[in-house]
Amino acid sequence: MNLSIVGSGYVGTTVAACFADLGHNVTNVDIDESIVARINDGGAPIHEPGLDDLVAEYGGDRLRATTDYDTIRETDVTFLALPTPSRDDGSIDLGAMEAGARSLGATLAEKDGDHVVVVKSTVVPGTTEETLAPILAEESGKALGEDLHVAMNPEFLREGSAVEDFLHPDKVVFGTDSETATERLHAVFEPLLDHSDADVVETGTREAEMIKYANNAFLATKVSLVNELGNVCKEYDVDAYEVADAIGLDDRIGEQFLRSGVGWGGSCFPKDVAALIAAARAVEYEPSLLEAAVEVNDKQPKRLLDLLDSHVDVAGKQVAVLGLSFKPGTDDVRNSRAIPVIEGLLDRNAEVVAYDPVAAENMREHFPDIEYVNSAAATLEDAHGAVVVTDWDEFAALDQEFDAMADAVVVDGRRIIERRDGITYEGLTW
Ligand code: UGA
Repeated sequence: MNLSIVGSGYVGTTVAACFADLGHNVTNVDIDESIVARINDGGAPIHEPGLDDLVAEYGGDRLRATTDYDTIRETDVTFLALPTPSRDDGSIDLGAMEAGARSLGATLAEKDGDHVVVVKSTVVPGTTEETLAPILAEESGKALGEDLHVAMNPEFLREGSAVEDFLHPDKVVFGTDSETATERLHAVFEPLLDHSDADVVETGTREAEMIKYANNAFLATKVSLVNELGNVCKEYDVDAYEVADAIGLDDRIGEQFLRSGVGWGGSCFPKDVAALIAAARAVEYEPSLLEAAVEVNDKQPKRLLDLLDSHVDVAGKQVAVLGLSFKPGTDDVRNSRAIPVIEGLLDRNAEVVAYDPVAAENMREHFPDIEYVNSAAATLEDAHGAVVVTDWDEFAALDQEFDAMADAVVVDGRRIIERRDGITYEGLTW
């Protein structure tokens, strides 16, 4: 099939490359000429395992990027994968989505025959039906349900394993009340579903929009709950990880997302939980459990710093920060727990020396004045305390590097360092 994807950010590029891998001809439309040139040259514009290989294989061939919306008319289905950034009150800014829908609609006005538009971006319930579909219909002059069909198909891709997640989903959600859109979405996903036991969920657009938020809100709240339980565990000298391993054996709980520690970050959980809270408040519902999930998450970096304070006064002293990205496997520092941790250390007048295998450059934009070094060993040398914020595998292998610390206090926010003789070790929840 001929597909077009509007937007070549993290979701758009991954989805475009994966659809090309499934055998479709894909046109990726973006306003940024440098991104377009990069994809056509076979280079991925973002760091994501497996994506480079796919773009190298199909870029400039089955996968083409362009700044020209007109090429969309040669395709059967368009996916809208534009950003929906947060406003100050947590609600999402639909500016890019509305502008994209307007340009797409105007392009479709000159297309003979029907077209299916699929919203891929995370948007609050009602956005597709009440905001985007009317813009598309008005700009294109086409009639909804006749020659214009609209659907919502949320993504569940994790950074660091987005390609793998796309190709091996546990569910695919088609939200639409149009039979044409449902049929076409089945045809788009057929090569994937043929080799997969993923469930296909056929539902309405509003439900599809909410499924995405509910999925992320549930997981974020699950981690906050396990963090709260972990905080209590620590006070009672209980190992929270042994408790988590045991409760995870109960199928009703499940073993994933039970790692307690310094909390959740990234571009999705914080933004989506905030958007859901804002959406609830907009209809005068106070979502107490979601608010509590955010509160617990905000508390964890403070607890980590309190634990450090209980062993060492860091004012004027060098402190090592191990890990800067919001999770291992990515250089993304958006909402990383390292940000409040570094802010807290700077408030205490500590001299921060940070290390991350890939994320230092991105963190430099937030904290240009702290010191960044090239190895974990270099952060630890002469430090009067170390905090672990990201569970990079390489930290698990650290050993005699701790001997070079001036004061070997280690507060581990991710259960990655092994307790050993010669260091004062504090786990955040164990
Ligand atoms: C998340 C979801 O997992 C994806 O399904 C979803 O598609 C994506 O958001 C999105 O909305 O686009 P992602 O933000 O890439 O994916 O990362 P996760 O692996 O979910 O981790 C989120 C945060 O939770 C990280 O900071 C991680 O360190 C933390 N976490 C995760 C824990 O603290 N403990 C755990 O047990 C698991």
